[in-house]
Parts: sequence; C-alpha cells; structure tokens
Amino acid sequence: MSAASSRLGGKVCVVTGGASGIGEAVVERFRAEGATVAVIDLAEAADHRCDVTDPDAVAATFDAIASEHGRIDVLVTSAGIANVGTLESTSPDDFDKVFAVNVRGVYLTMQAAVAHMPEGSAICNLASIASVIGIPDRFAYSMSKGAVLTMTLSAATDLVDRGIRVNCISPARVHTPFVDRFIADNYPGRESEMFDNLAATQPIGRMGEPAEIAGLAVWLCSDEASFATGSNHLIDGGFTGVRK
Ligand SMILES: NC(=O)c1ccc[n+]([C@@H]2O[C@H](COP(=O)([O-])OP(=O)(O)OC[C@H]3O[C@@H](n4cnc5c(N)ncnc54)[C@H](O)[C@@H]3O)[C@@H](O)[C@H]2O)c1
Repeated sequence: MSAASSRLGGKVCVVTGGASGIGEAVVERFRAEGATVAVIDLAEAADHRCDVTDPDAVAATFDAIASEHGRIDVLVTSAGIANVGTLESTSPDDFDKVFAVNVRGVYLTMQAAVAHMPEGSAICNLASIASVIGIPDRFAYSMSKGAVLTMTLSAATDLVDRGIRVNCISPARVHTPFVDRFIADNYPGRESEMFDNLAATQPIGRMGEPAEIAGLAVWLCSDEASFATGSNHLIDGGFTGVRK
C-alpha cells in the first residue's frame, strides 16, 4: 500500500505505552497504514524512553519528536497501570500511583502534544468500560479511567475550534501482558481459573485481542473519522450492552 493511499499515510503519530499490549498493536497497525510512529514508554523497546508522569521529560520528548518531524498529527495515550482494591482497601499510595500514570500522564502528554499539533490532528485516549460502568474491586483504576473520559470531553471542547479532534476508546478485557500480570500478581496459583472467569465476563465469550482495539484507533485517528470528536467508543464484546 502506498503512503498516499493508506489510511494514515504521511501522518506523524506518537503512541505512549507503545512497547506493550494495546499500544504495541496500535504502533504495528499505524505503521502498516503508512504512519511515521514514535513510541514513548518506560520499556527499552521504546523509541523515546520517558516516564509520562514527569512533566519536564514529557515536554522534552515531545519537543524532540516535533523538531525531528516538523509537527505531531496524532497522539494515542495507551500508557496505563492496573490496580485492584475497593474503597475500603485502597491505600493513599496506590491511589497516587494510579492517578500519576493514568490521569496525570494522559494530561501531560496531551498538553505536550497539542503544542505541536496543526489543524486536522487527532488524539485518542485509552479509557475503559470502567469509565462508564461499575467494576468490582477496581476503585482507584475506575476513578482514573473516569477522569480519562472527562479529560477527553473537556479537551475536545477546548480544541474544537482549532480543528483538533479528541476521542477515547473504552475496551472491556483485552488479552495483553497487563492482564497476565494482573492475574499473576493478584491470584497466584489460580491463574487459569481467573483467566477463564475474566474471559467469560464478556458476553461474546472471550477477551479482546489488541489488534481489534488497534483497528478502532486507526479509524479514529484517520481522516475518515473527521466528524468524530468528544466521543467515547465502547469496544467490549457486549459487556455493557448485551445480557444473556
Ligand atoms: N488490557 C485490558 O484489558 C484493558 C482494558 C481497558 C483499558 N485498558 C487500557 O489500555 C491501556 C493499555 O493497556 P495494555 O493492556 O496494553 O497494558 P500493558 O501493560 O501491556 O502496556 C502498558 C504500557 O505502558 C507503559 N507504561 C506504564 N507506565 C508508564 C509510565 N509511567 N511512562 C511511560 N510508559 C508507561 C508500560 O511500560 C507498558 O509498555 C491502559 O491505559 C489500560 O488501562 C486495558
């Protein structure tokens, strides 16, 4: 496929958390669609190693990407961490850790990207079904993902007259290292049983695949989605809409 005929041809894209899971699948699909992609992550596989919670590092990283490529057309924020706990069991430290990455990290990276975005650019945040529906034992995580949804709506509003679109994707469980790590850390010895339980919570009978989320991100960040802004896109195997 030539860059001109591909869906993201000529676009300069930045993906946070692009070294693993959903972010990694987004990077792969974006490159296949002709995009130039810069991966930001803590992990070694990143093009730019950067902690999204550090304002100076984030600003310097986005400045470096923009000076290399001239601008930033697309940002996907996939860097995020999980946390298990209820209102009563969540510690202030856990609350702060989750909010640092999932809320402050998204705010800082959106702010740094927008400084380099021309009209016609797009931001796609990774929210969660936990943004819109109660999930047991995910108090801090759910609050953080609620904030990602409302950050999306607020930024979309403030940026609409500049021609910058801001949307978010809300997946149910997707099979990534995030899920495997979460099961191993929280349910040692019961990994296989917990995997099956988590798969069965989607009415479709399985977890999502990272590539299925990446396909939606391609559309949202492409010019095909030019009428979509300030919207939350559920992709959840029927989790919120199907009862059987
Ligand atoms: N997997 C799921 O079931 C699921 C469901 C709904 C939403 N999400 C959201 O999708 C996003 C991606 O999830 P995933 O499953 O691909 O996770 P993952 O753990 O596979 O990948 C997350 C990446 O973010 C990076 N990261 C974490 N903290 C960082 C920091 N401070 N600075 C820079 N990079 C950092 C990690 O190094 C990792 O490469 C997350 O925001 C998650 O909350 C995931």
